Amino acid sequence: MNVLSRSPYLALSDDLVPARSVETTGVPVIRADELTKIYDPKTGPVLDRVSLAVAEGEIHGIIGRSGAGKSTLVRCLNGLVKPTSGKVSVAGREISGLSGSALRSARRDIAMIFQHFSLLSSRTAAANVALPLEIAGVDRETIRTRVPKLLDLVGLSAKADAYPSELSGGQKQRIGIARALALEPRVLLSDEATSALDPETTEQILDLLKDINHRLGLTIVLITHEMDVVRQIASHVTVLEHGKVVESGATFDVFAFPQSPVARSFLASIVAHDLPREVSERLLPAPAANTDPVLRIVFTGDAAHDPVVATLVEQFGVRPNILHGRIDYIDGRPLGVITLVAEGAEPKLSGILAYLSSLGLHGELVGHAVRSVSAGAGRPRS
Ligand SMILES: Nc1ncnc2c1ncn2[C@@H]1O[C@H](COP(=O)(O)OP(=O)(O)O)[C@@H](O)[C@H]1O
Ligand SMILES: [Mg+2]
Repeated sequence: MNVLSRSPYLALSDDLVPARSVETTGVPVIRADELTKIYDPKTGPVLDRVSLAVAEGEIHGIIGRSGAGKSTLVRCLNGLVKPTSGKVSVAGREISGLSGSALRSARRDIAMIFQHFSLLSSRTAAANVALPLEIAGVDRETIRTRVPKLLDLVGLSAKADAYPSELSGGQKQRIGIARALALEPRVLLSDEATSALDPETTEQILDLLKDINHRLGLTIVLITHEMDVVRQIASHVTVLEHGKVVESGATFDVFAFPQSPVARSFLASIVAHDLPREVSERLLPAPAANTDPVLRIVFTGDAAHDPVVATLVEQFGVRPNILHGRIDYIDGRPLGVITLVAEGAEPKLSGILAYLSSLGLHGELVGHAVRSVSAGAGRPRS
């Protein structure tokens, strides 16, 4: 079989013409059903009934702490590890039921990149990219024309003859990506591919993956322990904890309304869901004579641009004092979480929460702050 002829990737076979639009089709190209993996019955399951659906063209982040089962999950997706029970199908083929040459053939649809690049040090960059084509028995003429296109795709044409020892970490990962794309896979699995790289190089590699996703419509599953990686490129995210899916959904929704403590803690450096301890320790659970309500407001989408704070002042006569907050862009949409002391809001609280909700914002009473001596009615106004 000529593996180059079954291509959805006109971009690689012809002259870098976009093959598909960015839109995901909604059809799952990867499906895991109730995957369980037990290596050692004494230590219990490493994956515990994990189900996952990844739509074609999607960039799907899988995040979890070290030992959560992420690498085991991706190895089940590409057939390197057989699940103890449950099924995996990729591009319509049930990977978990295959072995031998049928598995090898199915695995051409599933490419992988790794944290430590796994390049052969004795081969040049071009020869590393050519390797999967040679193993698949692709003819030499095709390899000769195809390898330069792959190097061009990752922006490393100039390094064709360099050996891995002559390349930077980011360049090695680019070669890893070119090699992964050589057989025109349907999905690309990335296991901590940016974890060994500095932040700036990480961003460049993530940009490259996003570009490849756009240009080729390639589905990408991205394993990471860094929420910022998810924020930068994933449209969907699944959170794994002790081998279980604790949360899964559109990245924006998970970032705006995380349901699990583990997702919240991963988000701590990105979204200001939790107050710093210095602030939270000072809040009281119930109102008192000298307290003001503390509100947490989640701003999403268009409402992030509404003058909410001004309305609190003008319409409700509240003096807001911002304690903590941050606005950022997640999957291209603004998301802000702000916690403020709403001085003077106590009698109007239900009206304020109704106003926030009428804008489609999430407002929540998180506690009560003791008014400082200088605050309140007697405070001089400037
Ligand atoms: N081949 C194996 N044999 C036995 N235990 C394993 C094997 N691979 C992984 N594990 C165990 O499974 C758990 C999850 O590992 P892994 O999937 O590598 O997690 P992660 O990639 O999230 O750090 C760990 O406790 C690890 O020790
Ligand atoms: Mg791992």
